[in-house]
Order: sequence, then C-alpha cells, then structure tokens
Amino acid sequence: MEQFKAMNSMPGAVRDIVYRINERCINLGYKAYIVGGAVRDMLLGVGLLDIDVTVVGDALRLADDLEHLFGYRFIAHPSFKTVTLNTGLNCRIDIATARREVYPKPAALPEVFPSGLYDDLFRRDFTINAMAVSLEGYHLIDPFGGKNDLQSGTIRVMHNKSFVDDPTRILRGIRFETRYGFEMDNKTEELAKASVELGYPGMLSAERICAEMEHVFREPRYTAILRRMEGLGLWKALFGAGKIPPSVYRKLQKIQKGCPGNVKFPILALLEGVHGGKVVEVFIAYKTLYRKLCEYSAREKALRFPVRDKMMERGMLYRLFNGVEKEILEYLYWTAYTWQYKNNIIKYMQEVTGFNFHIGGGDLISLGVKPGPRYNDLLQRARQEIVERGATDRSEQMDILKSVVTKGEEDLGN
Ligand code: CTP
Repeated sequence: MEQFKAMNSMPGAVRDIVYRINERCINLGYKAYIVGGAVRDMLLGVGLLDIDVTVVGDALRLADDLEHLFGYRFIAHPSFKTVTLNTGLNCRIDIATARREVYPKPAALPEVFPSGLYDDLFRRDFTINAMAVSLEGYHLIDPFGGKNDLQSGTIRVMHNKSFVDDPTRILRGIRFETRYGFEMDNKTEELAKASVELGYPGMLSAERICAEMEHVFREPRYTAILRRMEGLGLWKALFGAGKIPPSVYRKLQKIQKGCPGNVKFPILALLEGVHGGKVVEVFIAYKTLYRKLCEYSAREKALRFPVRDKMMERGMLYRLFNGVEKEILEYLYWTAYTWQYKNNIIKYMQEVTGFNFHIGGGDLISLGVKPGPRYNDLLQRARQEIVERGATDRSEQMDILKSVVTKGEEDLGN
C-alpha cells in the first residue's frame, strides 16, 4: 500500500501527539485513523487547523489512558463518545469512536452507533471528506474515490439521501466549492435542488442554521457563497426571506475586504438590510448588538444633519457618537459609502473619545440647579460645547457649564 506522504506536512509536535495516540491504540487493541477534513487538506497541501481522529474502539477510554500517561487534558463529550484535545499548537485534535448514523427524521440530529471504519466514512457528507489515513503505517484509505474527486475538483455526495438527512451539507458543499474553486457534480447539484424544493433546509433549527452561517462568514469569499445560496434557492429555503438587496451586497463586499474573519459584521449587515422571514430568529444571538446599531440609527435620524455627506465639528460628533460602542463605530466605518462619514468617525475616535470632563452632577447642585430630569440634558449640552471648544481645564469647563445653565434657565423663562 502507498504511504501517505502528506503526513510530512503535519507539524512535528502534532505528529508526536498523533504517534502517541497510535501507540496507546496498539496497546488497547484499537485501530486509529485520521479522517475527514484533515486528510482532504493534507492532500490539497493547505494549512491544517484541526485533526479528527477516529478510533475503532472506545475514544473515552483512550483519552483516559493518554491523560494518565502523558498529562494531556481532554474535554470529553460522553454522549457523542468524543474527546477534544487542545494541543496549544494552533491545532485541535478531536478523537471520536467510529460510528454509523441513523437519522430519525429529515434535518434532525442523528442517532449514533459504534461501527467499523467503512461505516464511519460512509456516513459522511462528500467523497473528498470520506478518506482516512491509518495511523499504523500511514496508508491512505479511500473507498469512495475521494482523491480522484479532489484532483478533479468535484464535490460529490456519498449517497442520495445525504441532503435529506442533513441539509446543512448543501451549505457545506457550497463552502467547499467557493473555498477551493470546486464544483458539485450534476447529480449532487440536482439532489441539493430537490432537497430545497421539498423544504428540508427549512426544517433545520434556527441554532443550526446560525452555526452554519457563522462558518460561512469565516470563509474569505462569503459574498460568493451567499450568491450561490440564492442561486440554488437555499437562502430562501433557510430564511424564508426575499432576495438579498444589492445595497446589502455592497456592504458585505466592503466588510469582506476590510475585516475578513469578522463574523459579526456581515450578520449585522443582513439584520440591517434584509427584512422579514427568519433572519432575526436565526441570528437571535446577535440581537443585542443589532439593537445598539438601531439605537444609533435612530439618533442619527433625529439629528437631522447630513452626517454621511458633510464633515462635522467635534461638538456635533460628540452628540452623534457619544456612548456608541466601539464595535458599532467600526461597523459604521467599514460599511460607510462616503469618505466624509468615514472621516467623521475617525475624527470622533481621535479627537473626541478619551476627552476628559471635569464637571459632573455635583457641580450642577453647587450652581443651584434642582435635581431632576434636566440634569442630564444640561450636562450633555455643556459637554458638547466643551468638546467643541476643546476646553481641557476644569475652570474653562465650569464657565461653559455656568453659561449653559444660565441659558437653560432663560429658555425656561426663569
Ligand atoms: N461531516 C459530515 N456532515 C456534516 C458535518 C461534518 O459528514 N454535516 C463530516 C465530514 O467528513 C467532515 C468531518 O465530519 O470532513 C469534520 O467536520 P468539520 O470539522 O465540521 O468539517 P471539515 O470537513 O473539517 O471542514 P472545515 O475545513 O470547514 O472545518
């Protein structure tokens, strides 16, 4: 059997851990294999992040042994019979008991049963993810032609029910297409469309859709993924929402280029620009952040000033952005259409945030203002003017506060 040379691309320290895993397996009478995405990525010669090891044997027992012998610290997931080892080497190793899966109904989580390697590979999404490397001798095991498909750039399902059992796989398929420049073969694409037409993706829980979308936004070219999702009808099937408007795509392009890897911003852009359907329900975990963005938008509207088209003075910037979270400011910056608005945000960050105020509620009492709802308003007005004038001393700031109070009393007709 041919040796799997790509193992050499694995960092030495990680290979040492894998070697120890295999040693223990031999002692326990188990067989161990590297499986799934790690095999795919080693064959492609792209960077490795996580390694999945499948053992024909008891993964929990194996982890106990490794902890005992080498002091590794595993996190166990007993119900799935899997364990995770954070190697501290920028690479996570998951060890799972080989299993076959039975899906009780479409789009539900599967019931799992211990199995041999063949069933464990067969239960997987695509042939390119259904290869294994035996840890005894490092031989490639490829019963479904994954290596060929990898060479021809083909995403091919393992069986006809794959997208019925687990419609998240359609999205995974699109991710791999976009990431590696691959294509689904005709049959796989037909099966994806059929699953969409029969409404299976819509049966996924909101949490699972959200988790898959977060994976999408970790990809460097997620706008292409969204377009492909729309093309296959998957966007509508998952979110029950209309098309993603061109204005949202424009924002997404800016975010994709300006802050790759940021998952929150594209989700904010969708929440902001796609209305109806399940968008809010799916991204419920981002509701608080979205609410902050809405609060800012309301403030901007109430200001009745063309903040997006004109450079603004410091005082106005204070009024507009004061208290707005840094993350929201960053989002506004990256999605801005005009240089004026971008500059306004930068000017606010550089010249206004971090401004030290030496006045407070106590000073209003000393000036004889009776405590009440006007306090906040008076302080805000004073602070705006302080920033505007760049008044850094306490005495200057007090003078401004006094004049604001006097003017306030005049306005009230006192
Ligand atoms: N898998 C599957 N069906 C899914 C999710 C995962 O069959 N819905 C299988 C695939 O064999 C996959 C493996 O489980 O290779 C590991 O899954 P995961 O770590 O999520 O994906 P990777 O293939 O490693 O992809 P990525 O590079 O995006 O992490």
